[in-house]
Amino acid sequence: MSPSQLLDRIRVHGAIPRHVAIIMDGNGRWARERMLPRPLGHRSGMKSVREVVEGSLEAGVEVLSLFAFSQENWQRPRVEVSALMSLLEEYIQRESDELQAQGVRVRVLGDVDRLQGAARAAVDRVCAQTAHNTRLTLNLFISYGSRAELVRAARLLAEDVAAGRLAPDAIDEAAFAAKLFTADCPDPDLLIRTSGEQRLSNFLLWQLAYTELFISPVLWPDFGRSNLFEAILDYQNRDRRFGRVAV
Ligand code: IPE
Ligand code: IPE
Ligand code: MG
Repeated sequence: MSPSQLLDRIRVHGAIPRHVAIIMDGNGRWARERMLPRPLGHRSGMKSVREVVEGSLEAGVEVLSLFAFSQENWQRPRVEVSALMSLLEEYIQRESDELQAQGVRVRVLGDVDRLQGAARAAVDRVCAQTAHNTRLTLNLFISYGSRAELVRAARLLAEDVAAGRLAPDAIDEAAFAAKLFTADCPDPDLLIRTSGEQRLSNFLLWQLAYTELFISPVLWPDFGRSNLFEAILDYQNRDRRFGRVAV
C-alpha cells in the first residue's frame, strides 16, 4: 500500500496517537551489512528522521519524541561520538528552515550541557527559532538517560521542600511528572523501536507506563513514513485498558 493509502486508512480507522516516541536503532547494523563505517549508517538515518517528521505532520500527531543519543552512548568510540555530534549540527542546519515553515517546535531534552561547540550552538538556535510553533512538537532526546532524569526530578523536589516551597505530602504523581523534561507533554501513546531490539535502553521509564509498544524489525535507515503509518494502524487496533475492564 502507498503512503497516501495508508494515511487514508489511518484517518478512517480511529484515533491518532497524540504522542509517538521512537527509539531509532540499527544504524550500525545497516552500515555493517554494506561494509560501510558506522557513521555512514548514522548519516543515512537522517533521511528517516525527515520521513517520520513529515509523516507525523501528515497524520496529525501532536508530539514526536526521538531518542537520538543516550547518556550511555557517550561511551562509544570518540570518532563515532564526534560523527554523531556533527550530524546533529548538520541536521539542524539543513532542516531548521523547513521545520520552522511547517510549524514544528523543536526541543532538545537531556543533559544538554555536555554538548559542545557547534552542536550546542545549533541546538540552542533551533530551539529558540521554533519555540512558538504549535503544529507539532519534536522532542529530540540527546545525552538523555531516563534514570538520570528521574534522579534530577527527585533532587528538584527535594530542593523545593528544603526551601519551604513544597510540603512533602504535596508530592504526588503530578508534582513528580512536572519535574521531568516532558512536563508539558502527554505520555507517549505509542513507542516504536526499530531494528528488532526488545528493550527500553533507559528511555522514558516513567512516561511509558501505559504506552503501546511496537517493535519493528526494520533498521532505522530503512524506516520511512509507510513504516510509521503501519505502526499507527497497528496501534489503532489495540485495546488500551489501563488496568480496567474493557467496556
Ligand atoms: C542507533 O543506531 C543510533 C544511536 C544509538 C546513536 P546504533 O548505532 O545503535 O546501531 P546498532 O544498534 O549498532 O545497529
Ligand atoms: C538506544 O540504542 C539509544 C538510541 C537509540 C539513541 P542503543 O543502541 O544505544 O541501545 P542498546 O545498547 O542496544 O541497548
Ligand atoms: Mg543500537
